[in-house]
Amino acid sequence: MPAATILVVDDESLIRWTLSQRLSQDGHTVVEADTARSAIARFGPDIDLVLLDFKLPDGDGLQVLKALKAADPDVPVILLTAFSSIETAVEAMKQGAYHYANKPFNLDELALVVGKALETTRLRREVKQLRASRSEPYSINRIIGASATMEQLKGLLQKVASSPASTVLLRGESGTGKDLAAKTIHYSSDRSAKPFMNITCSALPDALLESELFGHERGAFTDARNQKIGLLESADGGTVFLDEIGEMVPALQAKLLRFLEEKAFKRVGGSADVRVDVRVIAATNRDLEEAVKSGSFREDLYYRLNVMQVTLPSLREHATDVPLLVNFYIDVFNREFRKNVRGVTPEALDVLTSYHWPGNIRELRNAVERAMLLAEADWLTPDLLPLSASRGLSTAQTMELPHEGVNLDTLERELVVQALRRTSGNQTKAAALLGLNRDQIRYRIEKFRLEKALN
Ligand SMILES: Nc1ncnc2c1ncn2[C@@H]1O[C@H](COP(=O)(O)OP(=O)(O)OP(=O)(O)O)[C@@H](O)[C@H]1O
Ligand SMILES: [Mg+2]
Repeated sequence: MPAATILVVDDESLIRWTLSQRLSQDGHTVVEADTARSAIARFGPDIDLVLLDFKLPDGDGLQVLKALKAADPDVPVILLTAFSSIETAVEAMKQGAYHYANKPFNLDELALVVGKALETTRLRREVKQLRASRSEPYSINRIIGASATMEQLKGLLQKVASSPASTVLLRGESGTGKDLAAKTIHYSSDRSAKPFMNITCSALPDALLESELFGHERGAFTDARNQKIGLLESADGGTVFLDEIGEMVPALQAKLLRFLEEKAFKRVGGSADVRVDVRVIAATNRDLEEAVKSGSFREDLYYRLNVMQVTLPSLREHATDVPLLVNFYIDVFNREFRKNVRGVTPEALDVLTSYHWPGNIRELRNAVERAMLLAEADWLTPDLLPLSASRGLSTAQTMELPHEGVNLDTLERELVVQALRRTSGNQTKAAALLGLNRDQIRYRIEKFRLEKALN
């Protein structure tokens, strides 16, 4: 049985104690509340199940049940009562109670019901996650943005997804959402049940890229001991996403062009044509026109790809979406970090909306993630958002190299110490303040022998 955190709500301390004893035997953590008010106040995303007394000094269990269900419809609530009445039971089930137990109850029976309820929610959560990790996150609604520019983009992506016309070229600066758009197109199309495969053209040496993409026959080259099926074949019926197409060498460009025009290709070392039905989505943040002019990108392929082109706007071009995106990511990281940040202060919003976002939505996501990691209050404040424009300025102002020079090692040590002090020794937070990861700060703590200073 999975260990869980259980909220026990009852005004009688003896009942709370008994339940708490029994449930901790099963490895659960029990938190207690003795009034309707404190139950609602204590409830939060860390609670996996609630045992709720029907009669509370300041209200009845049904009211609490309603409030809890409004906050989290998935959490199982088991109602306990000394007055058995069918009506109350029916009403409780209608309000979403998982179960209903009469006092005095049999502790072992109740523990069994608790176990079942937890198992049910665990499964439900798993399914939800599974669903979310598959097609859901790539529904068109996952593309955040309410500006006219983004509405237009969403319309275009939807049109592209539902049109059978195969090839698509995605363009746009780094971090504008080309990966996301490619997945959205695939998962909103009637190919969604078939594979989505992607490959980054710049990530592999040319020969390897060719055999990854088209496969090879046995003996095609020294290491080819067996036949290999390429990405295009394994994605039959689905979509292949070719990222950074601008980096593909001309010889491969020719082979790709032939595939786009004839739907056929030969495996490396093979002589027979292989035919598959695959939609190709290509992406680049390079200036392809320039590449055509300089001869590194084939003009015929460029025209073939250009038929259906979608340009992802830079965040500067739809800056009005910044608040929406910020809140979207606050929500994401509230769940991920189990925090309860409610939003940004007006000052922080000013910082965010006046920034120029060279790294686009990826940079915004990272900035919010970092701020959320450091946040200790309900609202994100500007000091949690050292965006490079402002950070560059303030560090340049406060940190001019002294005339006599400086000992960089000492300075580094000093900054690490200050970061640890400011975060009361929390290494993750201190690392975030310094733009380091946990391993990097641990390394420095050891290097400067700061463990002792920490205790
Ligand atoms: N409209 C959007 N709404 C919500 N999140 C977005 C949006 N666009 C992009 N993102 C998020 O921003 C991050 C960067 O997006 P993505 O990886 O798709 O960018 P990219 O254009 O492929 O960048 P690169 O050129 O560097 O590969 C991802 O976490 C993605 O989920
Ligand atoms: Mg990308």
